[in-house]
Amino acid sequence: MLLAGKNLNLLLAPLAGFSDVGFRAVCARQGADMTFSEMLSAQALKHQSKKTQDMTIVHADEKFKAAQIFGHIPEDMAAAAVHPALEKFDAVDINMGCPAPKIVKNGDGAAILKDLTLASKIISAVKNSTTRPVSVKVRIGYDKNDIANIIRACQDGGADFVTVHGRTQNQGYSGKVDLEAIAQACSLAKIPVVGNGDVTNEQSYQAMLSTGVSAVMIGRGAIGRPWIFAELSSRDVKDKFSQILSHVEILRRYYPEKWLTLYLRKHFLSYAASFGAKAEVKRRLAVSPSIDESLQMLKDELNHFENLSKSCNIVSRKEEA
Ligand SMILES: Cc1cc2nc3c(=O)[nH]c(=O)nc-3n(C[C@H](O)[C@H](O)[C@H](O)COP(=O)(O)O)c2cc1C
Repeated sequence: MLLAGKNLNLLLAPLAGFSDVGFRAVCARQGADMTFSEMLSAQALKHQSKKTQDMTIVHADEKFKAAQIFGHIPEDMAAAAVHPALEKFDAVDINMGCPAPKIVKNGDGAAILKDLTLASKIISAVKNSTTRPVSVKVRIGYDKNDIANIIRACQDGGADFVTVHGRTQNQGYSGKVDLEAIAQACSLAKIPVVGNGDVTNEQSYQAMLSTGVSAVMIGRGAIGRPWIFAELSSRDVKDKFSQILSHVEILRRYYPEKWLTLYLRKHFLSYAASFGAKAEVKRRLAVSPSIDESLQMLKDELNHFENLSKSCNIVSRKEEA
């Protein structure tokens, strides 16, 4: 997908609680062409919430970065898009896909898919407030496939592209991504469609590309595995531990150690899971009182995992011979 003169093929999804600035920078270095902030509340921005502004830190290594905003009042969304804290972002993304009950019950996120006139109004209010590209992240419908009308509403509002997560709001994260509905979106849309859902390896990536999408967005497949972007773009995966270290070092520049020690546990557990760590190691990581101690555990696990992979390769090569 060509946007603002940039070629954007692999996108890191907005991931509340995970897509911090360190993680985004590491994913960008691995080949994510576009990165998104965690979802930012238009109401919280309006009230100058410090917690929300802390989520707007960006890194020079992010190639093309979008701030994702959520809310359902067109004027507030327009104001959020031009909030000074979001000035450093290259694009604005509107969340119309979050299925979380606390978001939907306020009429935000995927709830907007129930009122597509409102959806168009929100998009056009945001579009008219900023000169930057504006995108929308949607699901294929609220409780059934309604993608044709959703695409029309996004276009009417003036969106520059739309990301389609191939599930309804009702489905949450259950079942399989509906690639046919994504293909339907591609065949109808006059704007680029980004495909999202369940891309975790080359096979699922190719399946997503076969729908005709202009780019692919990856969420859970990158948690604990930021090198997935290098793997999918056929680049060498360089020293995994140094990437984890860099993730931590970037965050240490901005956030206090005590807070980070708790915050990073879920990332460390995801990294450990991707190295096939034993339950005992995961148990220790889950309660570790020190980031450096956790990093040492991850380093040991990774060495163990890589040595094991090497010896398995040697055995299978011997067997082949
Ligand atoms: C922990 C978590 C946090 C998420 N946060 C957001 C968010 O802030 N904004 C959003 O639009 N989607 C959010 N999503 C949805 C993802 O961006 C993505 O659409 C979904 O996970 C499907 O893609 P995947 O199968 O590649 O993970 C989140 C998903 C997860 C698992």
